[in-house]
Formats: sequence, structure tokens, C-alpha cells
Amino acid sequence: MGNVSSTFSEKKEPSHLQYLSFQMWHLAVVLGLCYVAFKYFKGLDANISLFLKQSVPENGWQGKVVWVLGASQGMGKQLAMHFARHGAKLILSSRNEAKLQEVKSELPCSLENVSVLPVDLCGPYDQLTKAATTAQQVFGGLDVIVLCVGASMNALAAEVTPEVTDALLAVNTVGPIKLTRALLPRLLGQNRPARIVAVASMAAKVPSPGQSVYSACKMALYGNFSSLATELADTNVGVTIVCPGPVRSSYGPGSARAVYGPTGLISTQDAEKEDKARMAPARCVELISSAAYHGVDEAWISKHPVLALAYIFQVAPALGWMILKRVGPKRAKAMKDGRSGYDVRGMGQQ
Ligand SMILES: NC(=O)c1ccc[n+]([C@@H]2O[C@H](COP(=O)([O-])OP(=O)(O)OC[C@H]3O[C@@H](n4cnc5c(N)ncnc54)[C@H](OP(=O)(O)O)[C@@H]3O)[C@@H](O)[C@H]2O)c1
Repeated sequence: MGNVSSTFSEKKEPSHLQYLSFQMWHLAVVLGLCYVAFKYFKGLDANISLFLKQSVPENGWQGKVVWVLGASQGMGKQLAMHFARHGAKLILSSRNEAKLQEVKSELPCSLENVSVLPVDLCGPYDQLTKAATTAQQVFGGLDVIVLCVGASMNALAAEVTPEVTDALLAVNTVGPIKLTRALLPRLLGQNRPARIVAVASMAAKVPSPGQSVYSACKMALYGNFSSLATELADTNVGVTIVCPGPVRSSYGPGSARAVYGPTGLISTQDAEKEDKARMAPARCVELISSAAYHGVDEAWISKHPVLALAYIFQVAPALGWMILKRVGPKRAKAMKDGRSGYDVRGMGQQ
């Protein structure tokens, strides 16, 4: 016992200086880790679970049948190009048959691997069921269905007309949900896996001043397809919800993105082509394809600060609200002054 107590008494207490340097060393490690995490996060343009996935191999979609709705322009057209390059057979849909034929002629694949199927998602339900049947029969089954139909909004909630509200809900929400309902029994009855890719928006995850109804549409779409994904979890049908942030998706004359102002469609001709804050369409399309290929449930695809805001709203909603309550009134004022909160320049009633 005597030995033990003397051993204890011999142990020296660390000096104040040693204690301080130990603390400093710890602080340096923590700051270093924070810096690395910050640098990594800054480089992200998708949520981490998608960012970590490999891109789709060259022949990743070889022989797969992909139905792209909203294929006449914008992101849908770019997606059709991407799937064609990777070997898929394509069914192209939207309302405008002439534009779809033009897209077909531009695709980098054999024409016999492409079918044009015009459909109005806001049309009567029996037309949607007819389109669903035809799409499934064209190439003998469906592997991927991309719902890339929609219209955006640049108007204040206090000014938007009931007609614009109805139009936005019809094209962004009700149409895609009804088409999916028409399609589901056919997909569940086929003896191969299928994946529905619902293109929502970051406006489904983060409040979006100047886009209240659009945001409502996309949040509802998210609600529908996330619930559906859980219902189908033990079936052959998978669901991927894609939430892109701003994308430069307008290309030249005749391809302006559909955006509603308070009373009707407004022109966005060429306004977004050079907007660096918007993601390049090729990158967005590559990430959507990767999310579908790897069966990612929810894909956030955006540059910062929108991506960072989505994370903030998940982990610290109070901070998110604080930020958006500062941004919102500035956007509202800009819009009242005739400017856009979303860099949709060159606006004018069509
Ligand atoms: N661009 C962005 O920054 C962005 C960001 C987040 C989310 N998104 C979403 O991504 C999707 C595509 O956006 P985008 O920028 O490519 O838009 P876009 O250029 O306006 O294209 C919309 C597509 O939807 C089709 N469409 C519109 N109404 C339709 C209807 N009633 N029935 C069938 N097809 C219809 C259009 O073709 P027709 O006119 O020939 O019918 C067109 O092919 C939308 O859901 C949008 O909300 C876009």
C-alpha cells in the first residue's frame, strides 16, 4: 500500500502550459476538420447520398425503355438526349407533336428506337389511360418514366389570379399524379422492374418567395410521390423524387421556359442562358440519370445557396426561417418594382 500511495504521489500534475497546448492542439484538429467539411460541402451540387454515386456507365441504359414526359424542350429534351446517348429506347411526350418530331430527329440514336406520343397531362383522364397503355405497348414494357412536365411562377401570392393558380396546379401536380395513377396497374402487372422519376423542385423543400403556388404544387407532388414510394417499397416499381434548384433550361427561339406571372404566361426568352447562378443543364441531367440508375429515393440537385438552405431547413429550421424571412420581403419589393426575384429578366406579357 505504501508503494502504491507513493506511486500516486509521484505522478506530476500537467503544468498550466502543457494543459493549454493540449487544448490548442484539440482546437486545431476540430478547426481543421471543420475546414475540410466546409470545403467539401462548398463543392457539392447535390445531396451527399447522390453526390457519392458513380455516374451512369456508357451503356448504362442500353436497351431500356424510357418514357420522357415534357420532352419537347428544356430539361426533358436534354434528358431524352442523355438517355439516347446511353443506349435507351425512347418515348417522347408533351402536347406539341411538331416539336417532339424535331427532338426525335436530333436524338443521337436510331429513329426506330424513338416513338413520339403526344399527350396533354391536363386533358381528360381517359386520354391519360390511353397514353399509358400505348406507351407500355410501343416497345413491350417500360423501365423508366420521367415526369418532367411543368410550368414555373414569378408572381406575388397577393396578386396571382385564381386562373393562374388552377393552371399551375393542373400542370405541375394534378396531371402528373393522374397519369401515374393510370400507369400504376400496368407497371405493377409487368414482369420487370420500373422506376418513376418525378421531377419536383427545391421549392418542394425550401420556402420560395415569389413562387408560392409553384411551391405548393411541388410540395404536393413531393407528398404524393414520397407516400407512393413507401406504398410500393416491396413491389417491382420504384420511385425517385428529383428536386432541382435553378437550371439554365431555355435554349434559343421557341424554347423559352413556361413561367406564369400574376395573370398569365410571361416571356423568359433567352433570359436564363447566361445566368451563372443556374446549374448547367448537362450536369443536372447527368445527376437525374444517376439518381434513377442507382435508385436514389430523393435527389436534391442544386448549386449553393439553395442546396445549403435545404440542409439548413432539415437540421435547423429556425435558422432557415430567419434567413428566408429576410430574403422574402426583399424579393417581394423587387417584384413590386417590376424586377424579378429570380433573375427572370426580359419579362413581358405574352
Ligand atoms: N428549369 C428550372 O430551373 C427548374 C428547376 C426546378 C424544377 N424544374 C422542373 O423541371 C421540369 C421541366 O422544367 P423546364 O425548365 O424544362 O420547363 P419547360 O422548358 O417549360 O418545359 C416544360 C415541358 O412540359 C411540357 N408540358 C407543359 N404543359 C404540358 C401539358 N399540359 N401536358 C404535357 N406536357 C406539357 C412542355 O411541352 P409542350 O409545351 O410541348 O406541351 C415542355 O416539354 C418542370 O417540372 C419544372 O417545374 C425546373
